[in-house]
Amino acid sequence: MMLSFYILFLVFGIPWTSPTTIKSQNGFTPCEFYPDCQCNKDNESSLYIADCSGLNMTQIRKFPNIIVKLTLRMNSLNEVKNGTFFENRLLRTLDLSFNSINTLWPSSFIGLEQLTELDLQQNSLSRKSLTYSVFASFQSLVYLNLKGNFYQEFQPNISSLVRLKTLKMDFAYKETTILGKQLSNLKRLMRLDLSGFTGNCSIIHLTPQTFQYLPQIHHLNLSMCKIKSVQKGTFDKMKNIISLDLSGNTCLKFQVLENVTIDLQFSAIKILKLNKIHKVFDMNTYLQTSHIRHLNNTAIEEFHLDSNRLQQIESGALKYFPKTLKYVSTRDNMFSIGPYLYDLMSMSIELFDISDMFKAHKEDRHPETCNMNFVCTWHREAQYNENQNIQMKELLFESGQHYHDDNAVTIIPIPYRLKTLRFRSSDSKYKIAAVTLSNNKLERIDVSNNILSQLIGPLKNTKNLKYLNLSSNVCSNISTFFFSPDFNKLEELLLGNNLLGLVLPSDTFGQIFQNLLNLKKLDLSENRISILPNQIFKSQRKLEILDLSSNFLEKIDFKLSHLSHLSYLNLRNNLLTFIDSHTILGINHIVNMSKNLSINLLENRLVCTCSSESFIKWIGSTSVQLVNKYHTFCQLSTGKRILMINIPEIYKRLEKDCTSYEVLISVLVVTILLFFIVLILGFSYRFRWKLRYFYYMVKIRSRSKIPQIDEDENEYMYDAFVSYADEDRLFIHTQLLQTLEKENGIRLCLHKRNFLPGNDIATNITSAIHNSRKTIVIMTYHYLKSYWCMFEFNMARMESIYERNNENVLFLVVFEQISARDFPLHILEVVQSQSYIEFPNDEQGDVVFWLQLVTALK
Ligand SMILES: *[C@@H]1O[C@H](CO)[C@@H](O)[C@H](O)[C@H]1NC(C)=O
Ligand SMILES: *[C@@H]1O[C@H](CO)[C@@H](O)[C@H](O)[C@H]1NC(C)=O
Ligand SMILES: *[C@@H]1O[C@H](CO)[C@@H](O)[C@H](O)[C@H]1NC(C)=O
Ligand SMILES: *[C@@H]1O[C@H](CO)[C@@H](O)[C@H](O)[C@H]1NC(C)=O
Ligand SMILES: *[C@@H]1O[C@H](CO)[C@@H](O)[C@H](O)[C@H]1NC(C)=O
Ligand SMILES: *[C@@H]1O[C@H](CO)[C@@H](O)[C@H](O)[C@H]1NC(C)=O
Ligand SMILES: *[C@@H]1O[C@H](CO)[C@@H](O)[C@H](O)[C@H]1NC(C)=O
Repeated sequence: MMLSFYILFLVFGIPWTSPTTIKSQNGFTPCEFYPDCQCNKDNESSLYIADCSGLNMTQIRKFPNIIVKLTLRMNSLNEVKNGTFFENRLLRTLDLSFNSINTLWPSSFIGLEQLTELDLQQNSLSRKSLTYSVFASFQSLVYLNLKGNFYQEFQPNISSLVRLKTLKMDFAYKETTILGKQLSNLKRLMRLDLSGFTGNCSIIHLTPQTFQYLPQIHHLNLSMCKIKSVQKGTFDKMKNIISLDLSGNTCLKFQVLENVTIDLQFSAIKILKLNKIHKVFDMNTYLQTSHIRHLNNTAIEEFHLDSNRLQQIESGALKYFPKTLKYVSTRDNMFSIGPYLYDLMSMSIELFDISDMFKAHKEDRHPETCNMNFVCTWHREAQYNENQNIQMKELLFESGQHYHDDNAVTIIPIPYRLKTLRFRSSDSKYKIAAVTLSNNKLERIDVSNNILSQLIGPLKNTKNLKYLNLSSNVCSNISTFFFSPDFNKLEELLLGNNLLGLVLPSDTFGQIFQNLLNLKKLDLSENRISILPNQIFKSQRKLEILDLSSNFLEKIDFKLSHLSHLSYLNLRNNLLTFIDSHTILGINHIVNMSKNLSINLLENRLVCTCSSESFIKWIGSTSVQLVNKYHTFCQLSTGKRILMINIPEIYKRLEKDCTSYEVLISVLVVTILLFFIVLILGFSYRFRWKLRYFYYMVKIRSRSKIPQIDEDENEYMYDAFVSYADEDRLFIHTQLLQTLEKENGIRLCLHKRNFLPGNDIATNITSAIHNSRKTIVIMTYHYLKSYWCMFEFNMARMESIYERNNENVLFLVVFEQISARDFPLHILEVVQSQSYIEFPNDEQGDVVFWLQLVTALK
């Protein structure tokens, strides 16, 4: 066995121990020609993509001419020797970024006539190395990245790169300057990225001359360029410009917008980014009509105004945005309510992002020093009617703290085409009372990470809503009517990280979610839920994903058998010990219908004990996928936690343990029962006579047919009851009767003569013994054999013990010789302890015998 394994190992290697496979993710394997690098071979062309990044290389070795794309990123290269790539005529993309290259020679790139992309960013190239002849080698270059190289005022002469479409480089000048004339050669240049985010950029003043040689540009990125002013006419010639990014130039302020937008009108502009053109701690800002008026003459689609401390917008200004505008991002601003909200409704935007309102800020690390401070001037212009503002507030939002009129319905204006509204992390503290949205096409709303602590509602006119994110809102109450019937299209509802454990357990009739008939995904994670009522998901027949992770569930109480589309049930990080058989039935029901259900039970308190036996059995056999099954722990009855790796084995062991346990219990129970039965039987046998005696005594007394004897007078009905076997009757009826009754006047009770007819014999015996002073026993072998005689004997014994204070009642007459061996034990005892007389059966002895008998009875 071991041997065959070993041979297998030699022949195939064991795949999961081989390091090759670990590195070969994404199809990369060590290159045949240079194993330190990772290669990916394209099967059609037999050419390689080689990745030699992060290898601390100091020299570029020669590579065979079978590579189309070579990455030498993040090494320690400091020069590219002449002719290094002479043979690599097939190379199309070369990445030399993040090295320390400071020297390039005129023939460094010779041979790369076909190269289309060259990345040299973040090196130490300077004026000396970036000569005209270095670039002259390239005839096909389309993409060139030179960022993070030169920190001094320098523009490389790249006029030979006539096919270049994308240029990224530093542009750091202390004084106003223009982009070199050599760029006018680059007729195909579309994209110019000078952004200071990824390199060094400093263009103090933009004038109509700055970009005079680049009228054809499509995409211009001037973010973080320390721009202080933009003169009218700067972008005037760029009729093809599609995107313009002026973000991060904190000295520009909104006042620059007029000069920019006036140039952009009638251009092809689609994307305008003006994020953070104010400083972090500037005064709050006011967007005026004049700033954006000219955009009316564009077909702009995206407009970004993030991080501008924007608080108010001039009434009517928004109407100048053309109908083409689809996406507005105004994140991280300080909006207050104003009449501009009415203008919103007429905007044609589809995506509106107003997240991160009132976010806390840190001052910039290196704040720019701006020449002048225009910011205060807007205050005068911006005075809007305070009264109007209050009315707006009343109309639009009801802040729970101020407002308590529950009947007031708030109408929120929504741009009529808006599909996505993002209002995340905005510190908004509202109790959502009755709210109706204006007519809308909203499909997605994200209001996560606010403080919407009470969702009372109803929220109406959400007829198109498919996605609603209400997570992280410290929400502790959802009313049963918050989700109005208008929510019937909702497919995804995220309520994670709230406090719904306070309200969901009391939703006994499943009213909260009852209108969400199309819900496919429901996230209730991190809500401190300890229990979910049976009916809570009664309407969610289409539910596919249910996330209940990170709650306090100890057991699953809610009904789930009707969730036939369920494909993922996340119960991670709860307090479950096992899944009860009722829920298992429900899950099996789902599996039978969809055959595709995963359950996550990680980080629970699963136990592998006798109580969870059937659960373990189910886990081992079910077709439900357990997420990360082999990382699920369960606790044994000994307290030890084990990984549930081999479930059938765990079950087998459990089955054995629990069976022997069961057997033990049943054996114990039976034993105890038997013990008690034996005990009872033993006792009743031991005290059989006593019990019988009392039984008959009770019977006699209750019938009281036999006259009661006056105990005080100590008088009995008979002097003696004669107990004898029928076989000995001759002696009794002749001698005994004759001698005792006739001659000596002793009243005898004989069963033949004195028993009351009609009474049963046992009662008769007992009562006769009871009513006689003595009981004479005529002991013979016949006597010992007779059942009734034994009865009489024992009853007399009981009588003497329980009724006569141990006074001797029995008078034994041993009529014939009986050997001691033949006496039953209890008779022998009496025979030995008590006086008895033997019947002598001779003339003289008889006289003495009768004398003794008479004396004893009188
Ligand atoms: C760039 O170099 C070429 C060739 O040496 C020269 O003709 C041209 O004038 C240079 N352009 C600039 C702006 O220096
Ligand atoms: C250029 O950028 C580097 C790193 O980003 C920085 O150290 C350097 O000071 C910058 N130079 C100028 C002139 O901005
Ligand atoms: C401009 O460059 C910055 C930094 O690379 C980038 O974040 C930004 O998205 C670019 N702007 C545009 C419009 O592409
Ligand atoms: C707008 O352009 C005019 C004329 O070119 C210029 O005087 C003014 O300073 C510019 N405004 C800003 C804010 O740059
Ligand atoms: C915007 O321009 C269009 C024509 O291009 C014009 O009809 C419309 O009235 C303008 N809008 C405003 C608010 O001036
Ligand atoms: C939740 O809101 C409803 C409706 O306003 C209210 O009746 C109920 O008392 C609230 N429950 C809690 C726990 O605050
Ligand atoms: C099973 O569900 C998963 C998602 O949980 C899905 O990706 C997969 O396609 C489904 N498979 C079948 C056969 O339905």
